[in-house]
Amino acid sequence: MTKSSAPGKIILFGEHAVVYGRPALAVPVTQVHANVDVSDSSRAGIWIDAPDVHLQAELNTLPSDHPIASVIHNFLFLSRVSPFPNLEIRITSTIPVASGLGSGAAVTVALTRALTAHLNHSMTDEEVNAFAYEIEKLHHGTPSGIDNTVVTYARPVYFVKGQPMETFKVAQPFTIVIADTGISAPTKESVGEVRKLWEVDKTKWESVFDEIGEIVKQARQAMESGKWEKLGDLMNKNHALLQELTVSSPELEQLIEAARNAGALGAKLSGGGRGGNMIALVQPEIAEAVSSSLKEAGAKNTIITQVS
Ligand code: PMV
Repeated sequence: MTKSSAPGKIILFGEHAVVYGRPALAVPVTQVHANVDVSDSSRAGIWIDAPDVHLQAELNTLPSDHPIASVIHNFLFLSRVSPFPNLEIRITSTIPVASGLGSGAAVTVALTRALTAHLNHSMTDEEVNAFAYEIEKLHHGTPSGIDNTVVTYARPVYFVKGQPMETFKVAQPFTIVIADTGISAPTKESVGEVRKLWEVDKTKWESVFDEIGEIVKQARQAMESGKWEKLGDLMNKNHALLQELTVSSPELEQLIEAARNAGALGAKLSGGGRGGNMIALVQPEIAEAVSSSLKEAGAKNTIITQVS
């Protein structure tokens, strides 16, 4: 049996503007994972068992654009595997779906690596990343590529669309509380709504994207030099610009306010918005208290994670 696993991810700064060429910062979330086991099968075909999404099927009975089927079809095509092997593939994940934690990219990366290893192929990280980006494009319209990059490299990433991956070092580990509104909000839709705004007034929104890009650069410096109060302040500023972009929601606002009232240094929505997750920067000693306040304010789930 061949196993592979990939972490979740969270965007710290720069979502949406990153689609328009500005930088963004994202980090892996190692508390949650997608796991894939591939083994030879005694029955004919490629059998997929993904209990979290209630999927138990043979590959060829699935529509070819099914997210999991498309990874396997594309992988077999690209790696010129012939004849098709008989396989059992088991996929499990603790990453919540459609909530900004990169679940799709993590399944793609873990599945690609498990197939690569099981079928004695080799793929560099760059190749896995490029492949995962093609899969993201099939399902998410015009993604920036930040999800697949962070998940592939499992390192903090300073990301600019179309440019080589750049990692960065934080001065000391710091603590983030992630809270889930429980509202599943497809990124494709919020990205589409932002595009509509941009098409109506490009000058206005390009200047908002510039402001976000500037915040991202300052945030990287603040992380590299350990200026946590400044970082919290930048989170609040980034969130205000995301509000302008109309991608917040009443539920996100409630959680962000609760985190700030509970003593977080800063808080913002993370990812596509309109639902999904928010993040709060906290001193480690108040992380549990902020997490409790977030649950009282309606969070369906919280994760306390250290960025290092
Ligand atoms: O919702 P998430 O975490 O997958 O992130 C989406 C981030 C956007 O910038 C809104 C879109 C993108 O492709 O970068």
